[in-house]
This record gives sequence, C-alpha cells and structure tokens, in this order.
Amino acid sequence: MSKRVKVCVVGAGRAGEVHALNLSYRISLAELVAIVDQDLNLAKQLSQKVGGVHCYQTFRDALRSEEIEATFITTPTFTHCPLTIEAAEAGVHVFCEKPMALSLEEAEKMISAARKNNIKLQIGFMRRFDPEIKKAKSLIVEGAIGKPILVKSLTRGPGLPPKWALDPKTGIGMIAEVSSHDFDSVRWLMGSEAVSVYALADALIRPELKEEYRDYHDVYVSMLRFENNGLGIVDGGCPVGYGYDARIEILGTDGLIMVGEVKGTTLLISKSDKKAVTETFQSWRNRFYEGYISEAESFLKAVIEDKTPEVTGEDGKKALELVLAAIESIKTNKPVALPLK
Ligand SMILES: NC(=O)c1ccc[n+]([C@@H]2O[C@H](COP(=O)([O-])OP(=O)(O)OC[C@H]3O[C@@H](n4cnc5c(N)ncnc54)[C@H](O)[C@@H]3O)[C@@H](O)[C@H]2O)c1
Repeated sequence: MSKRVKVCVVGAGRAGEVHALNLSYRISLAELVAIVDQDLNLAKQLSQKVGGVHCYQTFRDALRSEEIEATFITTPTFTHCPLTIEAAEAGVHVFCEKPMALSLEEAEKMISAARKNNIKLQIGFMRRFDPEIKKAKSLIVEGAIGKPILVKSLTRGPGLPPKWALDPKTGIGMIAEVSSHDFDSVRWLMGSEAVSVYALADALIRPELKEEYRDYHDVYVSMLRFENNGLGIVDGGCPVGYGYDARIEILGTDGLIMVGEVKGTTLLISKSDKKAVTETFQSWRNRFYEGYISEAESFLKAVIEDKTPEVTGEDGKKALELVLAAIESIKTNKPVALPLK
C-alpha cells in the first residue's frame, strides 16, 4: 500500500463535497483520483472545486478506468449496500456514510462482503472524532465522572434533508437522516448495548408533508435502556430554522460532562439597547469541521497500516438497529426490545 491512498468519491452531493474538499486540500494521506455521480454535471462541478479529477457516471466505469484503493460512498442510503459490495469485490476499501443501509440484512451483507474480501469498512460517524466528544469519551473511560448513568444527545437541523431521505424507497426518514449520529454517540459514550427503545414522534413543524411522505415526522424523542442499566435520551427536530444544533450531556455517578452549544462563534454584538446578539452554527459542515477531517484520516491510516477502523461496520449496524427500533416504537407506540428479531 502506497503512502497516499488513491481515493474515489462516489456521490457529488452535500457529503461528497465535504469529503472531496478534505481529501484534496486538508489530508496528506489521500490522492483523490476520481469523482462519480449519476449526474455527471454534478461530478464535474465538484471536480472543478478540487482542481480537476476524472469524472464518471457509475462506480463501475471508474473501477474499470482508474486505479482505486479506497472509496468514500456519499450517495443516498438505498445505494450503500450495492456500492459497498461492488467495492469490496473489487478489493477497494470502503468509507460509507451513515445511515449504513436500509435494513439490518443489508448491513450484514456489507459486513460479510468486507470480511470476505479483506477490505476495511468504516461508517461515517464523525462525531466520534470531534475533539470535544472524543475528550468526553476519554474522561468517561478514565472514570472522571464515575459511572455514566444517563447520556442525552440531541440534533436539530436548520433545513429539510434531501427528498430521497424522506422517501421510504430510498431512505429511512428524518430520525435516521438527522439522528443516526445521536444513537451512535449515546451507545458509544454509555459503553454498553441498548436493551430497549421507546420513541415518540410527530409532524409539528411541517405537518403538510405527511401527505407527501408516509410516516413523516419532524420532531421526536427516544428513551433507551442499556445492558449496564444506564439510560439514554435522543431527541431531534428538523427543520428548525434557527441553526444547526448538536449537544450532548453525560450524567455520571460522580459528575456531569456537557459538550456543544447553540452559539457558533465567539463574536457577540452588545449595544446600548442592552441586548447581546450572536450567531448560531449554521451547518453540520462547520460544527463538525475537524471531525470530518479526522475521521477520513483515521480511515486512511487504517487502510495504510492494515488496522481495524475506529468505527466499524458492526458499529454502523448497531446504530441502524437503534434507529429501526425507534421507528418501530413510533409506529406501535410501545417499547421495543433489542436485539431486533
Ligand atoms: N456525516 C454527516 O454529517 C452527513 C451529512 C450529510 C449527509 N450525510 C450522508 O451522506 C449521504 C449522502 O447525503 P447527501 O446529503 O450528500 O445527499 P445528496 O442528495 O446531496 O447527494 C447524493 C448524490 O449521490 C448521487 N447518486 C445517487 N445515486 C448514485 C449512484 N448509484 N451512483 C453515483 N451517484 C449517485 C446523486 O446524484 C447526488 O448527487 C447520505 O447517506 C447522508 O445520510 C452524512
């Protein structure tokens, strides 16, 4: 394996742009060799932003024409499983965005394909690489707040996600799109597997979208119970308009850790009217700027040094299971026991 991993980004949308820019300008371990998008114009537009790389309409075409060692899959959820299997069978290492797949069966197929073809598979939970959340995890492990007993994580997004995320044929809805990260964070910070999930949801921000999308919801709360008896709470709402808001609180037997704030800047304007005005984070792009760079570096190091990725396919599957359990609970209005059958 060369020192710089030859990478192809598949999906030139929002997440693809973040990764392509990082791989091109901020990460020395990668050489971006190709961008794929079914909409070739989008691939070309992104290519221009990264100084010009070859563009393809399908991953198959890119595999045929380029020497590719790793791929970043940044396409809609329903494509993650087939693209991961295609990459694995070509011996290409995979970084796949969350949510890992549409179903646990698909997630298992992705894990098996990676194992069988001896490639690395990492899922895009960049919050684990956010300097403050990472510090929180090491403080918990050191015992700084005793034993964690309640982990709360929330995310609120300013605007609606892309349409495919809300369409049950191509995505698994708002809770998966916005809060997969929270479920992963709560599980990781608690250091235990969940045994039950109870969730409530409603469409209180954009109720008219219930007509367009089956099971549409835009505000939700999930309560989790863990094997170690700890409790978890995940809440979310989108589109909230006021900004991108991601916060975590960990209550331990001997203290509290809080990470994140609504304020996205230290700039504050205070005038003679005695009001102070500041700005919120506007996007996941700037709130988790360092996390995106650091997760990609970690994946590339795992490839170069032949190590297990810091966030595995199994982690992706566990977070997906929590999301699916929450969706089932919303539908049945009952707690759902884990593991799912
Ligand atoms: N980690 C994060 O914080 C984060 C943030 C945003 C999105 N995401 C994830 O990234 C993924 C993409 O989301 P997005 O918001 O960038 O979506 P998007 O709609 O902005 O972009 C997806 C792109 O994929 C292309 N595409 C679809 N099917 C394809 C295929 N088979 N081959 C090639 N190209 C294909 C589309 O044309 C589109 O340009 C999702 O899994 C999403 O959940 C993660």
